[in-house]
Amino acid sequence: MLALAHTQSLRKVELLLNVVQDLSLAKNLDEIMQIVRSAARELVDADGATFILKDGDKCYYADEDAISPLWKGKRFNSSICISGWVMQNRQSAVIKDIYVDDRIPADAYRPTFVKSLAVVPIRKKDPIAAIGTYWSSHHEVSSEQLQLLQALADSTSIAMENIQLVQNLESKIKERTAELESFSYSVSHDLKAPVRSIAGFAKILEEDFSDQIPTEATEHLNRIKKSAHQMNRLIDGLLDLARLSRLDVQLVEVNVSRLVEEISLQLEAEDPDRKASFTIKPGVKVVGDQRLLRVAVDNLLRNAWKFSKKTPMAYIEFGSYFSENGNVVCFVKDNGAGFDMSHAAHLFKAFHRLHTEQQFDGTGIGLATVARVMARHKGKIWAQAKAGEGAQFFLEFPNSLFIN
Ligand SMILES: Nc1ncnc2c1ncn2[C@@H]1O[C@H](COP(=O)(O)OP(=O)(O)O)[C@@H](O)[C@H]1O
Ligand SMILES: [Mg+2]
Repeated sequence: MLALAHTQSLRKVELLLNVVQDLSLAKNLDEIMQIVRSAARELVDADGATFILKDGDKCYYADEDAISPLWKGKRFNSSICISGWVMQNRQSAVIKDIYVDDRIPADAYRPTFVKSLAVVPIRKKDPIAAIGTYWSSHHEVSSEQLQLLQALADSTSIAMENIQLVQNLESKIKERTAELESFSYSVSHDLKAPVRSIAGFAKILEEDFSDQIPTEATEHLNRIKKSAHQMNRLIDGLLDLARLSRLDVQLVEVNVSRLVEEISLQLEAEDPDRKASFTIKPGVKVVGDQRLLRVAVDNLLRNAWKFSKKTPMAYIEFGSYFSENGNVVCFVKDNGAGFDMSHAAHLFKAFHRLHTEQQFDGTGIGLATVARVMARHKGKIWAQAKAGEGAQFFLEFPNSLFIN
């Protein structure tokens, strides 16, 4: 008999340990409540459990798990309910017969199965919530059971404080990102006018004073024009990037293959002397934002096109496959210049380039833009490459976004 009791309490401790681990992984209050309401019931073999949140001077019965309905969704004045008493007095309440305890509003209990109960506060020093457990027959709560419940409540309190911290951080990060974005947007915008002026006056010098300018100075003038042009491209890239972050994502079914086909034709038209063979898998569809995905695919294809321009038999492929967890992964592959993966840590950050302007022109904003698009789709991006042997870029879309 003793051995059996021992095994049983070991099993409860094991259960508690598992629950503590689950709680540490919970990402929001709903997840916490879900874990706690069933764990509480199981830990003390109760017929029902509730999760009560302090809501000003009210007790909010936020969640429950019970043999028949209790008070889920209801609010009671703290002064008239037992969880209010528990939170105000910072101590647990154990009641074997609820109808003889004057802390219990009998009317609220009459429609329910409850005969006995135990309620423990969450964050004992300054309670923010409580866990209630209920029995349909007169039940004597042992001190061991009460300890288990209080241990559950203490872990719950840590989990609740953790998500609070994370949520605060997340909202601060969001705020700061929005500030930075609007700052970079307005700076970029303001830079356009002076750059336009530099380019404009360089042009006037060239056109109106060409006969008076010595050859060496013409060289300098060309440099000025080129730099102004490059700066203009950088600013446009930054403006595009900032705009992307502001656009609302409108999810529709997007035929990515068709986007790739259109852009490949455009590339060939823009540069008819270039020869590259395209292989495009037809019918690859994802759920995403048409405009954002066009920008992403455009950047990847333009890169493949650009970085394979020195390759004699340039080859560009678009394809897709399913990841292990069933997500759609699209890829763009080329056999161009590639790059050394050991230098690729910052590949997706703005202005990071692995090739010089002399080797291949560019601004280094394209991949940052693609990464932003994927972030807005809650997807992933990564690359695989080898110097001199080409590069492959992968876009993974979350499973739920996929339409068959
Ligand atoms: N297909 C590719 N092949 C080789 N290198 C690439 C490829 N795509 C991107 N890269 C590398 O990543 C860098 C960043 O790309 P991106 O942000 O599009 O800038 P940009 O095209 O303006 O250089 C490129 O400068 C290049 O070094
Ligand atoms: Mg690019």
